[in-house]
Amino acid sequence: MAGSPKVAIVTGSNKGIGLAIVRRMCKEFSGDVILTARDESRGRTAVTLLEGEGLQPEFHQLDIDSRDSIATLKECIEKSYGGVDVLVNNAAIGYQQPAGVSWCDHVTSTINTNFTSTLNLTRALLPLMRPHGRIVMVSSMDGTLDILHNDLQNKFSSDSLTETQLVAMMNEFIIDAIAGNHVSKGWSYSPYAVSKVGLNALTRVLARDISSSNQSNVIINTCCPGWVRTDMGGPMAPLDVKQGAETPVYLAMLPPGSPSGFFWERKRKVQF
Ligand SMILES: NC(=O)c1ccc[n+]([C@@H]2O[C@H](COP(=O)([O-])OP(=O)(O)OC[C@H]3O[C@@H](n4cnc5c(N)ncnc54)[C@H](OP(=O)(O)O)[C@@H]3O)[C@@H](O)[C@H]2O)c1
Repeated sequence: MAGSPKVAIVTGSNKGIGLAIVRRMCKEFSGDVILTARDESRGRTAVTLLEGEGLQPEFHQLDIDSRDSIATLKECIEKSYGGVDVLVNNAAIGYQQPAGVSWCDHVTSTINTNFTSTLNLTRALLPLMRPHGRIVMVSSMDGTLDILHNDLQNKFSSDSLTETQLVAMMNEFIIDAIAGNHVSKGWSYSPYAVSKVGLNALTRVLARDISSSNQSNVIINTCCPGWVRTDMGGPMAPLDVKQGAETPVYLAMLPPGSPSGFFWERKRKVQF
C-alpha cells in the first residue's frame, strides 16, 4: 500500500522480554510497533505503561494458539498497512509443568504454542512480508541439538528437512512423551527444550524455502535472549529484560542482505 507506514509486530509483548522489545523498537524502529497480547486487558495495561514513558505503541489482540485470532490480525494489518516489515515471534510458555496441569496437557500445550502456533502465525504473515522484511524467532540455548540423541540430531539438522517432516517429528515427540518413553527414544526430557529445537530447525527450513521464493530478500533468524529475569526466567537470572531484548531487536533491525537462517546469542551466530 503506497505511503503506508512501516510496521513491526511483537507477539506476547504485554510483559517480560516481549514488552522490552516493543519499548526499544518504539525508540529505534522507523514505523509503527504493534504490542500484541492474548489478553486484551493485560495488553492495554502494557500500552498505557509505555505511553507513560512517552512511547506510542499500537495494540492488537493476538492469541497465537487461535487460528481466528491470527486471521483477524492478518486482515487488520493487510487493511491498515498492506504489508509487514518485522515479525518478532516472542510468545511462548515456560519450562515448568504448572501445578494442576497434567503431563499430557503440558507436553501438548508446550509444543503447540512454542512450535506449532508460531509456525501458523509465521506462515499466515509470510505472504505479507515486504522486501527486506525480518522475522525473528525468540528461542533458547535450551533448544540446541546436543540435547538429542545423534539420530535425532541428524534429522533435525538435515539440509533436506522439509516443514512437513519437521511437523511430523514434533508430533512424534508428543506421542513419545505422552507414552513416557521419549527419553529412551533419544529426546530431551523437557517439552520446552524440544519445542525450541523445533523452532530453531523451523527457522532453517523457512530460510531455505524463502531463499528460493519470490521473497528471497526476507531475512529470518532465531536467537537466545539469554537467561533473563521474567516470570519465565525467574528472579535468579543474571540479565534484566532490557538486556534480554538486545539480540532480538538487533535481528529485527538487521540491514538488507544480512545473514538468514542462523541461531544467534549475544548478537553473534552460534552453533544450532
Ligand atoms: N526469560 C528467560 O530467561 C528466557 C530464556 C531463553 C528464552 N526465553 C524466551 O524468551 C521469550 C519471552 O520469554 P519471557 O521470559 O519474557 O516470558 P514471560 O515473561 O512468561 O512472557 C511470555 C509472554 O508470552 C505470552 N504468551 C504465552 N502464550 C501465548 C499465546 N498463546 N499467545 C500470545 N501470547 C502468549 C504471555 O502472555 P500472558 O501474559 O497472557 O501469559 C507473555 O506475554 C520466550 O519465547 C521464551 O521462551 C526466555
